Amino acid sequence: MGSGGGFDCFLAAKKVGSTGKVIGVDMTPEMIEKARKNAHKGHYENVEFRLGEIEHLPAADNSVDLVISNCVVNLVPNKAQVFRDVHRVLKPGGRVIISDLVLTRELPENIRESVAMYANCVAGASLKNQYLEVMKQAGLQDVVVQKEVSVPVEFLLGKEFTKGVPRELIEQYSNAVLDITVSAIKPNSIT
Ligand SMILES: C[S@@+](CC[C@H](N)C(=O)[O-])C[C@H]1O[C@@H](n2cnc3c(N)ncnc32)[C@H](O)[C@@H]1O
Repeated sequence: MGSGGGFDCFLAAKKVGSTGKVIGVDMTPEMIEKARKNAHKGHYENVEFRLGEIEHLPAADNSVDLVISNCVVNLVPNKAQVFRDVHRVLKPGGRVIISDLVLTRELPENIRESVAMYANCVAGASLKNQYLEVMKQAGLQDVVVQKEVSVPVEFLLGKEFTKGVPRELIEQYSNAVLDITVSAIKPNSIT
């Protein structure tokens, strides 16, 4: 989901081999075109790119074994809709593994609204607990954070954007952003 140039999909394509299939989704025609060109150049025949939004995945119900995504869900305001649609397309017993930026606490407006935070995908990030809860409410089970790394706010802001923000505030919120990898499954049957 959110294929960018398709590189996540090419790694997945190597894993699933010639008998498997990977579907890359992105909402911008430019990214889809770029990814298709890259697939052609790299001779990837088991990858297909589809134009669409991750809130309304262009895939049939119960048709996908694994959903992967890196740094896209945090861009979408309606994360509940994203996870409902992930649940819809997964086969019963299918898995989702997502890498995303989340917050340990709300950021003050002058940090959140910084241009740099938009560029680094933090502006749309939600609180970690809310994010995990939204996954569960969508019907996903065994929601487990596999990896968690703190991303310092000063690193995300970069030197040129820290000027307008008081130093103490940056230090106070330094550890408020996490890069997490979270996995879950769609249960085999409704319990
Ligand atoms: C930060 S990039 C990540 C790309 C890729 N996953 C990677 O790790 O390189 C975000 C991508 O998500 C796409 N995107 C953003 N919102 C989307 C949405 N609602 N539905 C589908 N694609 C979306 C953008 O067009 C962009 O290509």
